[in-house]
Amino acid sequence: MKALITAGGHGTRLRPITHTQNKHLIPIANKPILSYALDYVREAGIREVGIITNQEGSEVRDMYGTGKKIGLSITYIPQEKPAGLADCVRIAESFIGGEPFVFYLGDNIIVGGIKRFISEFYTNKSNCHLVLAKVPDPERFGVPEIKANRIVRIEEKPKKPKSDYAVTGIYIYDSSIFKAVNAIKPSARGELEISDAHQYLIDKGLTITFSEITGWWKDTGKPNDLLEANRLVLDNITTQIKGKVDKQSQVFGRVVIEKGCEILNSNVRGPVIIGKGTRIINSYIGPYTSIERNCVIRDSEVEYSIISEECQILDQKIRIEASLLGKSVQIIEAKSKPYTNRLIVGDQSIVEIR
Ligand code: G1P
Repeated sequence: MKALITAGGHGTRLRPITHTQNKHLIPIANKPILSYALDYVREAGIREVGIITNQEGSEVRDMYGTGKKIGLSITYIPQEKPAGLADCVRIAESFIGGEPFVFYLGDNIIVGGIKRFISEFYTNKSNCHLVLAKVPDPERFGVPEIKANRIVRIEEKPKKPKSDYAVTGIYIYDSSIFKAVNAIKPSARGELEISDAHQYLIDKGLTITFSEITGWWKDTGKPNDLLEANRLVLDNITTQIKGKVDKQSQVFGRVVIEKGCEILNSNVRGPVIIGKGTRIINSYIGPYTSIERNCVIRDSEVEYSIISEECQILDQKIRIEASLLGKSVQIIEAKSKPYTNRLIVGDQSIVEIR
């Protein structure tokens, strides 16, 4: 079995972070979103992985290279323009070469891996195995209609969903999917929809089976989804303190403090992860916060946030919460009069000031 993972797109709903960074490389609990998918396919015994990138996909290539370091053999497959998920499958046909494969949307995060979905695919002799999750807002997703425990129809982002399930971004196929993606026509938004390919398989009478995700699943399309995914991953960490925590500091709950970190005269309340070389001085770090490497947080409070590498948060009088900071952001105090708010922020940034 091979794997095909998407890592292209423009991440428009995550701007401004995605102006300078591929959304799939945004850190969740200090690990790029895409690495969760790669780890799960390796854990399932898969070695050959195709990654779909956009034309300028060099960032992902720079990060993972041939895949050798992470025990995989990676082939990069550039998609000319964002023409839909079924198009991603279509352009990967020669890479897949007739084997069954897992198609994994690289911005989806789940808990517990994908092994059991692969076994169900084989046990049921499926042509297509879908992974469903119950959601409060099915109209945002592909939605199955289920009768007598069988999927009888699938609609993409329906106004009136026929069930409260979403088809998540983990699919297992045999080679019959290629007939489907080559037969369907673009939708109203001009894309080859994966849901239309699934409907094609249903119409041809092929075997479509499904599993339900019982833990959790997140499609990390919007900033709040990222904060939630970060919370859910941090809920499963185990304490590991490799850095320095001085006597004046207090560390509670599950906390990962990596090598070279310094926690000085501060209060860290887990679950929290703090990356290599980061310094926390006279500060409070509250639950569900991930701070990457080489940041400085001094005389400030941060909670329920994702702070990327090399950021500085200094002398903040009001707690920073539910925030998402890209790399090398500085939030600092005005040093001289006039004491005003001075902002140098990129396009589409959101700054809420009290
Ligand atoms: C895509 C699929 C949709 C699926 C979702 C899962 O939607 O088209 O069927 O439910 O991924 O993440 P998109 O994220 O492109 O809106």
